[in-house]
Amino acid sequence: MAENITNNAAWEQAKCLPRHIAIILDGNGRWAKKRLLPRNAGHLAGSETFRNIATYCKEIGIEYLTVYAFSTENWKRPEEEVGGIMKLLDKYLHEAIRDMREKNIRMKVFGDVSRLSPQLQQLIAETDEISKDIEGFQANICINYGGRAEIVRAAQAYAEDYAAGKVTDELTEDMFSNYMYSAGIPDPDLLIRPGGEYRLSNFLLWQCAYSEFYYTDTLWPDFTPQELDKAIEAYNSRDRRFGGVKP
Ligand code: IPE
Ligand code: IPE
Ligand code: MG
Repeated sequence: MAENITNNAAWEQAKCLPRHIAIILDGNGRWAKKRLLPRNAGHLAGSETFRNIATYCKEIGIEYLTVYAFSTENWKRPEEEVGGIMKLLDKYLHEAIRDMREKNIRMKVFGDVSRLSPQLQQLIAETDEISKDIEGFQANICINYGGRAEIVRAAQAYAEDYAAGKVTDELTEDMFSNYMYSAGIPDPDLLIRPGGEYRLSNFLLWQCAYSEFYYTDTLWPDFTPQELDKAIEAYNSRDRRFGGVKP
């Protein structure tokens, strides 16, 4: 996998790698359905794809990967499916705790973790702790995450700080960004949605103000490093103006 890209002169020269890629992990259910498997088999396959893609992102020099794994709206799903996803998460976090030092991967969870089991919360706290000793690539996993909920939470936190006299300055966009889960992290340059849908589904509403979008019909479990290369290629062909005009 690594050889793929390190031998690819285009990436070496281009230096146009996005610093931060965000991905909406969609299509697991349909992947399973196509194979007459239960939906949770799709989630399992999707978690393996995440592992591969995260490793690949790190290898090619992406600094941040933020993935949408479970939304505030996903609690509407059948209990069995939600339970299966939580179990997978538990398994994933155990493996992360075992491997992240060796793989040199920092990990953060974005979202309201208070609704997760105490065991999951404990595992997340451990990954936070380990991450403090690691420098380099960072994977952010959004769990019980909603873009609107994140903005409301930030507004509440600012209001509390203001009332307590901890902040006296007028609120600016930069200050507000620091109340987000993504505080200190650059906004995603590239947002990828596999699974054939063309919507944000309440993902990173604040942070994606100027992200480049890339959609593909490929279902997430089938997503490959080659597909990521294609997304980065598409990103490189875009003309990012941020509201200005091209000189
Ligand atoms: C994404 O895959 C995973 C989660 C939202 C947890 P889906 O489960 O939404 O897959 P589809 O969209 O039904 O195929
Ligand atoms: C978005 O996928 C949420 C995650 C991938 C975690 P959904 O499958 O939940 O989104 P909708 O329902 O198609 O908008
Ligand atoms: Mg879906």
